[in-house]
Parts: sequence; structure tokens; C-alpha cells
Amino acid sequence: MDCLQEWPEPVVPVQSLSEAPTLPDRYVKPPSQRPSVGDAARSLDIPVVDLAMLPGGGGGVVEAVSEACRHWGFFQVVNHGVSLELVRRFREAWRGFFHLPMEEKKRYANSPRTYEGYGSRLGVDEGAILDWGDYYFLHFLPCYLKDHDKWPELPPCLREATDEYGVEVRKLCRRVMRALSLGLGLDADRLQKALGGDDEGVCIRVNFYPRCPRPDLALGLSPHSDPGGLTVLLADDHVHGLQVRKDGVWITVHPLPNAFIINVGDQIQVLSNAEYQSVEHRVVVHAKEERLSVAFFYNPRSDIPIGPVPELLAAPGRAALYRPMTFDDYRLFIRRRGPRGKPQVESFEAMAIPGT
Ligand code: OGA
Ligand code: NI
Repeated sequence: MDCLQEWPEPVVPVQSLSEAPTLPDRYVKPPSQRPSVGDAARSLDIPVVDLAMLPGGGGGVVEAVSEACRHWGFFQVVNHGVSLELVRRFREAWRGFFHLPMEEKKRYANSPRTYEGYGSRLGVDEGAILDWGDYYFLHFLPCYLKDHDKWPELPPCLREATDEYGVEVRKLCRRVMRALSLGLGLDADRLQKALGGDDEGVCIRVNFYPRCPRPDLALGLSPHSDPGGLTVLLADDHVHGLQVRKDGVWITVHPLPNAFIINVGDQIQVLSNAEYQSVEHRVVVHAKEERLSVAFFYNPRSDIPIGPVPELLAAPGRAALYRPMTFDDYRLFIRRRGPRGKPQVESFEAMAIPGT
């Protein structure tokens, strides 16, 4: 599609604006979307699951993961098995990248065609109100889409750390997928198979939220649900920012040390026929602190139809809520619109075919 070839207007890295005394108009959200609205100072937080007991499935892990995905769509994991030394090395490499001179980063400026590289906006609506964040987006799997030349060359350890991190977090996703299958009463490998077996896709988005002159008027990332399968988020180790919508209220997530935050994406909502929820979330920014987070998107093979797993529709009265669609088609739809509200997957519910 032509409209996805180029950005509709010149892209300005947010980092280059962050020392400005005022917030440029392009980043001022309408009053109803500003961070203070609907944000209750609650002590409520997302569930925490100790994965030490997986993969045996014992110790209540399956129940804990499946409960969290039914009621929250989000949970934190501790004892996840990914080397903490690797996590630290990976995070510092990317922090180093965002602190390189702008000219070096701009070598990797991205386009809306694939989004790969260094970017500052999502969606191609001309004149849209923008989010206060820059990012780097890359493909890790399938192998034919992974291209080291599209990853930053500097800092020197970045590519190696990213490769190692990708391998380890993929293993973690597979363990979580097994728990999610068992939690639906399916064979342990059922959801993985439905996602494409060993041909799953993985993309990584490193988010960098610079200091913001008016954090009360802006958002780092607008409300959205993640379009893929699962997301494993490595949050900043010092600065909070992620908020999850629970019963209409924005809840601030407080990451535990050495934890990952995992959330259900739209494709798992579809596969599970809405037993598991892909939940809206957003990011707030700060006046005095920048923030780095890394989203690891675990996605289906992109060219196979993804629909509710047939076994889940066997019981009387269980109708398919979604018509099968490839992730390629779904992603194209999302990329045109940019981050926008509660599961875009709902736009497709109207197309559901009762009784199939
Ligand atoms: C994302 C996302 C949250 C964060 O990248 O999709 O929701 O805390 N990130 O940066
Ligand atoms: Ni997200």
C-alpha cells in the first residue's frame, strides 16, 4: 500500500526536543487522554508468578498464569531463568545506543513500510498528536527477516547481547505458552502448534522515553493492546511508567527487581476465543527522568490463519468469536492506525461467524 511507504511528514526524534522549555503542541494530548485522568492512587498491582516450578507444571504455576491472563492479561514473572548478567549487558548496550550522537542513530531511521530501525512515531495519520518516545524496532525471527545490518553497529557488544537475549527470552515464551495451553485444558504444546510451531516470529522494540517538560500533558505511548501473541517487557530498573487498564482505571505497574512483565497479545486472545485477555496499557513520562524499556514480541508465524482453537469450541454453546486471519493482514491494519485503544481485535469481533 502506498500509504505505508513513507511517513506523512518529517520525523523529529523526541530526544532532540527534550530540553525544550515547553511541550510542543504536537505532543499535547486532549484533556480526556491526559495521564491524570482516571488514574487512581490504588495499591492494586498486577499478579506476580514465581516460575521456579515450571516446566513440570506443578506448584500452581499453571493456575497462577492462567488466572492472571483471564483477569488481568498481565503478570510479572520472577525466577524466569534468563541470566541476570545477560539482562544487564543487554540493557546497558541499548542504553548506550540511545546515548550515541543523533547523527549515528539517524543512520538507522525507519519507514512505516517495515518499521525496522530507529523511529519516533507509530501510525501514518497526518497531523496526529504524537507520543513522547523514540524506539528501535528489529526482527529476530524468522531467520530470513533477521538482518544484523539493520541493527545498530554501536555499541560494539549490542548485536551479540541482543542475539543471546533473543534466544533466552524465546525459551521463556515457550514455557509460558505451555502453561497457557494447560490452563485452557489443552495439550501442553497445543497453543504453540497453533502459533506456527517452530516457525514463530519475534520482534524486539526498545523504547526510550526522554525527559518531558510537561509529563502531565503527554504520554510516552498511547493506550493500545499488543497485536501479537505474548509480550515480555523488560522494564526500566529505576523508573516506572507502564500503566494497565483494569476495570476502567489506570493502574501503575511497579516492576520487581529482576522480573519481567508478561502480557497477552491480541493473537492469544483470538486463539483462546477470549478466555485470555489482551488488555489495554499505556506509558506515562517524567520531567526529571528518562526511561528505557524493551518489549519482546512473541508472534505467530505470519502467513497462517489464526482463529480460535477448535477444541475450545467443542462444548455446546461455544461459538467462535473471531474469523481466522493471518498476522500479516492483522499487522497491516494496525500499522496504518498506530496505537489506538482497547484491543483492535474487537474491530474484528463484528465479523465473527456464530456457530462455527
Ligand atoms: C510496548 C509497550 C510498555 C513500556 O512497547 O508495546 O507497551 O513500558 N511498552 O514501555
Ligand atoms: Ni504494548
